[in-house]
Amino acid sequence: MTENTALPRIFSGIQPSGVPTLGNYLGALRNWVRLQEGHACIFCVVDLHAITVWQEPRALAAQTREMAASLIACGIDPERHILFHQSAVRAHAQLAWIFNCVARLGWLNRMTQFKDKAGKDREAASAGLYVYPNLMAADILAYHATRVPVGDDQKQHLELANDIAQKFNHDYGVDFFPAIEPLIMGPAARVMSLRDGTKKMSKSDPSEQSRINLTDDNDAIALKIRRAKTDPAPLPSEPVGLEGRPEARNLVGIYAALADLPTAAVLAEHGGKGFGAFKEALAALVIAHLAPIAAETRRLLADPGAIEAVLRAGASRAAAIADPIVAEAERLVGFLARA
Ligand code: TYM
Repeated sequence: MTENTALPRIFSGIQPSGVPTLGNYLGALRNWVRLQEGHACIFCVVDLHAITVWQEPRALAAQTREMAASLIACGIDPERHILFHQSAVRAHAQLAWIFNCVARLGWLNRMTQFKDKAGKDREAASAGLYVYPNLMAADILAYHATRVPVGDDQKQHLELANDIAQKFNHDYGVDFFPAIEPLIMGPAARVMSLRDGTKKMSKSDPSEQSRINLTDDNDAIALKIRRAKTDPAPLPSEPVGLEGRPEARNLVGIYAALADLPTAAVLAEHGGKGFGAFKEALAALVIAHLAPIAAETRRLLADPGAIEAVLRAGASRAAAIADPIVAEAERLVGFLARA
């Protein structure tokens, strides 16, 4: 298949470290689906990134398939665009090694996500977790992708990717890797935990109640929203009233994103009411969006072989783009040609 090279190229990824959450959906996946118009997109299930923290091998394989099914169920079109799993395209790891030698320790030391994920026992974190952002830079730059739709938490990693691209170009005296533009979109670029409005909603949070999964059934969604932490005051009628109220801000942000309304419009309608009524309206909205996705994911997973075939076809199209770019990077570094 010849890829469309006239459109700006998008790359983005998601870790198969669990079931995708409402945070992934609103911060990233929904935007990926929309950006398919007008872009040539490459979407990747990043299993190399997932193993930077321990993953049971059998669970990882199943989660990779499930993630691919979820993405297709959300509306990713693997025919018009490319969907694949990272480990199937060797170019990612090859370029990541070069980037390990371009990035500086000082840069990596500033990464807040490493600090968060490594926690107090930093000595016990894997070396992979430390160089995680270098692999992300390789993911994007192996395709010369210029636009990267992500949630707010990935912003610092994309700044680092730009630093790596610039240093490579400078060190080797070339203009080879392009600048990357992060696309961080909408009122839900950072969806917070339902149990703690100061913590990000995450698929790897030990508390099941903290997140809504794209595979949750309607009852589970309604219950999680009903139990979501809130404060005792009624909802404010204007956005300034959300200041210092992280849980209220989070629920209103989710509502605004799903209803495609500005926060002010949501508060104009629901302000002054208690959380009980608002939570009911929110649950109905979340269910209306997620129930069809969950049903389609289940349908797709009934044929795991078909999902794997989609991923493999995507991987060979991805490799056809990345291999020559990474071979050129290797030539610039001074490696003898592989073949
Ligand atoms: P991951 O798997 O943590 O998340 C996938 C996408 O979902 C976004 N996201 C959120 N957005 C809003 N609110 C939240 N609570 C929330 N949680 C997650 C993330 O910002 C992300 O866009 N490092 C990446 C995967 C990756 C990647 C890449 C992304 C690997 N290589 C290259 C872009 C380009 C990650 O861990 O995503």
